[in-house]
Amino acid sequence: MFNKRTRLHTQFEIKNLFQILRSSLKKEQDFLNELKIFLNVENLYLTSQGRVSLYDIIKLIIEKTKKKNFFIAPFTIPEVIYAIKYAGGNVVFIDLDRNTGLIDSKKLENKIDNNSAGVIITHLYSNKENIKNFISKFEGKIKIIEDAAINFGANIDNKFLGTLADYGFFSFNLVKNLNTLNGGATYIKNKDEFLELKKKLNKKKFPKILTFNLIVTACIVKFLSNNFIYQFFHYFLSFVYKNKISFILKRIYPILFHKFKTSVPDNYSYDFNWAMNDVAKYNLKKVKEDINIKIEKAKIYQSHLSDKKVIKLLFTNKENICLEYPIILKNIDNYEMHNILFSKGYDIRHTWYIDNSKELEDNSQFSDTKYITKQIFCLPTHKNIYKKDIIKICEVINNYA
Ligand SMILES: Cc1ncc(COP(=O)(O)O)c(C=O)c1O
Repeated sequence: MFNKRTRLHTQFEIKNLFQILRSSLKKEQDFLNELKIFLNVENLYLTSQGRVSLYDIIKLIIEKTKKKNFFIAPFTIPEVIYAIKYAGGNVVFIDLDRNTGLIDSKKLENKIDNNSAGVIITHLYSNKENIKNFISKFEGKIKIIEDAAINFGANIDNKFLGTLADYGFFSFNLVKNLNTLNGGATYIKNKDEFLELKKKLNKKKFPKILTFNLIVTACIVKFLSNNFIYQFFHYFLSFVYKNKISFILKRIYPILFHKFKTSVPDNYSYDFNWAMNDVAKYNLKKVKEDINIKIEKAKIYQSHLSDKKVIKLLFTNKENICLEYPIILKNIDNYEMHNILFSKGYDIRHTWYIDNSKELEDNSQFSDTKYITKQIFCLPTHKNIYKKDIIKICEVINNYA
């Protein structure tokens, strides 16, 4: 009884509604300064979404270098691939290295030529050594863009992920380490480039109706992910999964229903939503504490999972904090594991990212991406998951995987 749990979670609090109202009336815009102090960098600006940050960076690099080819591993959200294309870039996929979670550095080295503009590293589960090796190998040879969308707060030798290379960006959407409902930030190492880009940016005010829609979504997620409500919602989800009700699945797994638009979407022209100024400051103050809680939960998973069944990917020194604790299943795939855990009352997601190379005619060279797409499994570390849930989830994985 009352032991069903969902991976769904948002930091959104009722208190945030008053903060939004206050920010809308007072029109203060001091979050950016606090963020600069937190990240200990100057060349930072806020955007309406992480993908918009990437779009701005790609446009800037193309303009500066007159080159258009960008390397990326196919295991990411499709919107990242689209942002590169919307900005006029060509996407060149290179396989992931399953051991480091980064783009395969040997394959990348062989592919760099005179038309290469940049490489995007998606921070997934790499550790300090992997990241440092990668950056020192390619620094100065090609522009490096860090996608730290899911790793806000992670740091190596007192420098934050997203600020280690030439360019970096973060996402602050509803489920991220720092939540401003929608939002992102762009880091540019070179001061002249940063000032030049900032001068050109001409973003529109974030529409009020969108803020309203986001608040409604946040309240729905908050309600359904409440541990009491979820005891009932679980049966509804079971019905949705069995009958493949696509309009609800689209909400739960938007990544599986992505769509490329022929022109740049309207939301790319929106500024950061300044109605979120106070919420952002409030969440920034809590972020370190929230990360510590996540890491403590990840450690419980780590100590209870069997090495025979899973590969554990843990970075307990805050060098890479994902939203959840990722493991690689050795003997069973993530869809099968999801189904088993769901039957025991735990709704754990089967899909982290998709293999974007699937759409290519020949994708035979992406074997590590294929492997990770099928075997990686993200375990929840949020506040509604208690130690006893983690131990139960580990028992199920150890018994069935
Ligand atoms: C790896 C990665 N990159 C980029 C993004 C894009 O962030 P946003 O949704 O703020 O555009 C996400 C969002 O989840 C992500 O997971």
